[in-house]
Amino acid sequence: MPKLWGGRFTQSVSKLMSEFNDSLPFDKRLWKEEIEASTAYSAALAKAGIFTKSQQAKVARALREIGNEFAAGRFRFKPEDEDIHTAIERRLVEKIGETGKKIHTGRSRNEQVATDERIFLKSAIAQAGVLIRELQSAVRDLAADTADDILPSYTHLQQAQLVRLGHYFMALFFMLEDDYRRLEDLEVRMDVLPLGSGAVAGSTVRIDRNLLKRELSFSELSPNSIAAVSDRGFITDFLFVAAQTLIHLSRFAEDLIMWSSTEFAFVELDDAYSTGSSMMPQKKNPDSLELIRGKVARSISDLTSLLTLQKGLPLTYAKDLQEDKEPMFDSVDTLFSSLRVFTGVISTLKVKRANLMRNTDDSIYATDVADYLVEKGMPFREAHKVVGKLVLTGTQNGKKLREFSPEDLKAISSLFDGNYYRIFNPQKSVEGHDVYGGTSSKRLKEQLDLADKILSRRKAGRR
Ligand code: ARG
Repeated sequence: MPKLWGGRFTQSVSKLMSEFNDSLPFDKRLWKEEIEASTAYSAALAKAGIFTKSQQAKVARALREIGNEFAAGRFRFKPEDEDIHTAIERRLVEKIGETGKKIHTGRSRNEQVATDERIFLKSAIAQAGVLIRELQSAVRDLAADTADDILPSYTHLQQAQLVRLGHYFMALFFMLEDDYRRLEDLEVRMDVLPLGSGAVAGSTVRIDRNLLKRELSFSELSPNSIAAVSDRGFITDFLFVAAQTLIHLSRFAEDLIMWSSTEFAFVELDDAYSTGSSMMPQKKNPDSLELIRGKVARSISDLTSLLTLQKGLPLTYAKDLQEDKEPMFDSVDTLFSSLRVFTGVISTLKVKRANLMRNTDDSIYATDVADYLVEKGMPFREAHKVVGKLVLTGTQNGKKLREFSPEDLKAISSLFDGNYYRIFNPQKSVEGHDVYGGTSSKRLKEQLDLADKILSRRKAGRR
């Protein structure tokens, strides 16, 4: 079958080339966007005098019917359909004849593909926003439930200072809040309509681009046709936000995987998000979280693909750019499924409260001891040294910090007094961090209140 562009050719392309060239196997996913854009374009063509009013009505109706065929899974592709744009145009002509052949007047697939992708990503941004909010809401609830549980925090994966478990979970809430805001920023740049740019130089037909903008609910028109058909920065942008969001998830996934080991035993995943071993009957593996940790590799490679694809590519459009779609779809799918599964894990997670402090020894209070000496007037650097010595002596003599006698302590510094023994209290330790953003109960409450404010904004109608 001849291609839509076959006029200047004497032979048809090889089957091999056809398969290599066709993007239909993956860009058919853009059928809805293509129909929406083509319908708007037909209205602009009518305004430009290319279609009569009744012809345009006929085109719009046929496009609606084609949409129904897709929605019902009834649309039949033909071997000559190269991509979603040519498939829909071919079907339109099939349905309404000669009139349909005018739809491509002044139009190029170069602008169509950029337009469809922007429409697609605008809705992906909105959906990603909803999914992030759902996860944030589950995280907030878990944080509220664990506000009074205390556990060691880690730096360098070594026990650092005691924190409230709720404070730990709120870290995820606020990292996700950053991701959400990145999406909001991105939404502004995505909201620029390329249609009317033609193949490269701008349409030759007097298309009312403002009409297109209104019809397709865009906020701005691309001000330069060359940028509009060549640039894929808007896709790279989205892929970065997706990768960064997944990186956040993967770090928490890693902690929870560790925490569900026998050695930590801080948490247990629900059966619904775990799997067993085909050989070892005792196993309950956190596969959900391992997969989320693993999926981020795909997302990063999708981003890398898009960046590499554009590097050094001559302006304007080149077929290389057809390779932009699979990474884009893959990142959207990976992000959505990972957010959904993570939300499931978080909302069913069991915390094993009794184990949280199981492997914590007195050295976790070392900073508190230093702070105690600082309060008594010792410069911090000196206090650090004194407590370091205390910890070393304790390690050498198998003595816990609280087991030092008043005499032992006095020998190290005269500032030690009876209040020293009050330091070794988890509550007291976390309450000491009473600064905005800290882990004291008042400060965690502030975070939870802020979360509620953020989450209720959505309920009031703002995304
Ligand atoms: N399938 C193509 C793509 O995905 C559409 C644009 C084709 N443009 C062209 N001049 N051949 O990029």
